[in-house]
Amino acid sequence: MSKTKIAFFCKQCGHETARWEGKCPACHEWDALVEAPVEKEKPSSKRGKSAGGFTRVSLAPRADLKPLKEHARERLPRIPVPISEFHRVLGGGIVPGGSVLVGGEPGIGKSTLMLQLLGTLAHADIPTPAGLNGPTNGSAKPCWLYITGEEAPSQIAARGIRLTDMERGRPAPATSSVPVKRAGASGVNFDSDRLKLASETDLAGILGMLEAERPQVAVIDSIQTVRDGALESAAGSISQVRECAMALVDAGRQLNTTIFLIGHVTKEGAIAGPRVLEHIVDTVLNFEGETRLDLRVLRASKNRFGSTDEVGFFEMTQAGLTEVPDPSAALLDRDSAADKGAGSAVGALCEGTRVLLVELQGLTVPVPGGGSPRRRASGLDANRLAQLLAVLETKAGVPYGTLDVFASAAGGFRVEEPAADLPLALALASVATGRMVREGLVASGEVGLGGEIRPVPRVEARIAEARRLGFKQILLPARGRTAVPAQAEGIKILRAKTLREALAMGLS
Ligand code: TYD
Ligand code: MG
Repeated sequence: MSKTKIAFFCKQCGHETARWEGKCPACHEWDALVEAPVEKEKPSSKRGKSAGGFTRVSLAPRADLKPLKEHARERLPRIPVPISEFHRVLGGGIVPGGSVLVGGEPGIGKSTLMLQLLGTLAHADIPTPAGLNGPTNGSAKPCWLYITGEEAPSQIAARGIRLTDMERGRPAPATSSVPVKRAGASGVNFDSDRLKLASETDLAGILGMLEAERPQVAVIDSIQTVRDGALESAAGSISQVRECAMALVDAGRQLNTTIFLIGHVTKEGAIAGPRVLEHIVDTVLNFEGETRLDLRVLRASKNRFGSTDEVGFFEMTQAGLTEVPDPSAALLDRDSAADKGAGSAVGALCEGTRVLLVELQGLTVPVPGGGSPRRRASGLDANRLAQLLAVLETKAGVPYGTLDVFASAAGGFRVEEPAADLPLALALASVATGRMVREGLVASGEVGLGGEIRPVPRVEARIAEARRLGFKQILLPARGRTAVPAQAEGIKILRAKTLREALAMGLS
């Protein structure tokens, strides 16, 4: 009988070594190696070597060896997702046989999102995409499977039924503060016989169910509760999570079932601790937001089947997650702009194919007792903030030396685009000087270390979004990758070469 081989994996980077070491040889993290079983040795590795050192293989012609352009013609079939925000983030629907990890903090709404996904798929009554083996569950129609190890099936079911009632009975929920569209405007159907639910945490049990039901999509809620009885470690440990995820992803590929694994994010922000899980799946989606606020953002951080810069916006309401088709309006808190005083500026930022208007805020306070000043960023990159403060100080003469500085993106949104530099600089300069940012102004621009305003892409789209939301002027880099127009209808265009110039134009 072959014995399972043991190896050591780094919790940080997933590096594999044969023996334990105090420090990971790859990422140099201390005390990060943990023991885990690895796949049994494959018989193929014992294949004989020819005299030249090459592995002896069959010389039969291979059907899949052909010019690249011919492979390109074979488009992957996709299952359309009726929730358009979700559809887009996936890169245009669900790829049969693929695997998706959905990560997020506890309570963010992962279970709700997955339940609504299956509910809308069941409602849409989607036939098996052409060109697939199709289900062998005795029906021409696919089945959708939800496996729960976290909550009792009755709890999940009750939630589904409540969502159906909300769907049928009432108009948009009263709790909603922004324009929303119900997730899956086409509706949910939890009455469908083809939407199945079971409680199972044993890996073999889950694999058995997948094989028997051959669902089109299976949700495993969550990967941390699944346990392979062949391993001694506890559910949720690195070796369990890794082995179970590999087995489930593999089964999905063979059965043409798309596997959605729900994974809890640890305090450090990693899914299930190790990065290992992220290597195993095709797509990694992160469900983010402030649990205190209603806005939720779904982002792809890895996608073998599409781009990773699309984001989907949702709002958590009493009727579950609802799509937010106009996130700029949702993110902007326009009513209180006058009450806020200095320290607030609006940026036009690109997220995937969309432009969003996001409010950036700065606050400064004298360092208590003459200690060293602190810099805190929320929803923004802390290094970027530190760099921007240094440039503001040296190139535009705004002093922060004895001040604590706080900066944030309003609405719980995480800003990543460098074009946020300019509006953030305006907010920070505004709060330090007491001068207000000009009324009705939006800004976009990257700030270089030399204090120069660097070009940003998609200027026209930014102008259009600012105008749509009623802004009167937009501050842009003087130079553009594509020419920055000198004027546009209904909105004044200001163009700055340097940070000093930009502050003179943007502050009143
Ligand atoms: P849940 O999907 O259970 O989160 P996760 O699986 O990520 O842990 O949702 C958690 C929260 O969402 C919970 O606190 C209640 C809230 N919620 C609503 O506000 N409205 C709803 O319709 C549902 C189903 C949940
Ligand atoms: Mg859950």
